[in-house]
Amino acid sequence: MRAFVTGAAGFIGSHLVEELLSRGYEVIGLDDLSTGRMRNLANVADHPSFRMVSGSILDRQLVEELTEGAELVFHLAAAVGAFVIRDKALESLRTNIHGTHNVVDAAYRQGARLLVASTSEIYGKNSKVGLREDDDRVLGSPLKSRWSYAEAKAVDESLVDAYAREFGLRAVIVRLFNTVGPRQTGRYGMVIPRFVRQALDGEPLTVYGTGEQIRCFCHVLDVVPALIGLLYCDAAAGKAVNLGSGQQVTINQLAHKVIEATGSSSRIERSSYLEAYGPGYEDMQRRVPDCTLARELVGFQPARSLDEIIADVIDDQMAARRSVVSLT
Ligand SMILES: NC(=O)c1ccc[n+]([C@@H]2O[C@H](COP(=O)([O-])OP(=O)(O)OC[C@H]3O[C@@H](n4cnc5c(N)ncnc54)[C@H](O)[C@@H]3O)[C@@H](O)[C@H]2O)c1
Repeated sequence: MRAFVTGAAGFIGSHLVEELLSRGYEVIGLDDLSTGRMRNLANVADHPSFRMVSGSILDRQLVEELTEGAELVFHLAAAVGAFVIRDKALESLRTNIHGTHNVVDAAYRQGARLLVASTSEIYGKNSKVGLREDDDRVLGSPLKSRWSYAEAKAVDESLVDAYAREFGLRAVIVRLFNTVGPRQTGRYGMVIPRFVRQALDGEPLTVYGTGEQIRCFCHVLDVVPALIGLLYCDAAAGKAVNLGSGQQVTINQLAHKVIEATGSSSRIERSSYLEAYGPGYEDMQRRVPDCTLARELVGFQPARSLDEIIADVIDDQMAARRSVVSLT
């Protein structure tokens, strides 16, 4: 079986590639290395069943070529991270809309099963505890850069839905809530790797806003098997499915946990959203998934706690620091 993975050198993509190879798949990966890194794939770079191609999902011909012969397509490539979306607004929209269209169309022509990574951002400011897949979207103005990622991912979902209904494309949309773990970088706005880096460097941990906003963090190694399971699940075809953890934590609590787990002497510092992201940024008070559907479809049940997630991210960043030291 051949699987084509877009965004293969990214955080989630690289874990997915490893899992697919360990299950005996032949894997072709595509990534433009904008936020992904080849070193994420260091464990599998020489694997005989893995081929990595450097290029963009905006290159329609390349996407069609790489999709040829693939039974499974996992579409993870996207412009991701609050700073990327703010600083490269137009390119992000093109990647997340036109790039996705290229992948969806190629999967349809090839007759492949398709999984498209969407996001909890779809729900916008809806702060209901236990967001379900059919809950309303509550979004700010499209002229606020904050929402353009959600807008683009919503267009992706509508595209997939139209291809599924009109052409019979076998596709599932997965709405990922905060997914974290080793290899995620804090450079583009992800909070746990940023807090861990700040704590290890003895810098203040910067909390944006009041810090009382609630999030749920799920380990990437709990998410990846569910991605594969959902792609194979006939009952999931044509649906959007939430994947995330139900363990709630405020950002203030998270900062304290990271300081404790690293044994750092860092203090916590507050910053406004305006200082952090510039004008036009809005945040939501709470984001908690209801993952009943994923549990019913593929038995999804995250096994790793937030403390284990933090410990894994610390180990990962410590190992990266040791390898830099040993190279110098
Ligand atoms: N990590 C999360 O918490 C989270 C939450 C919601 C949704 N998602 C979705 O999951 C997917 C993977 O995200 P991630 O967290 O691994 O982020 P990531 O930035 O590590 O992965 C995205 C990958 O896509 C690549 N990419 C970007 N533009 C490309 C292009 N034009 N052509 C080819 N490759 C391109 C990047 O280089 C990167 O390797 C994305 O679709 C994202 O929207 C992630």
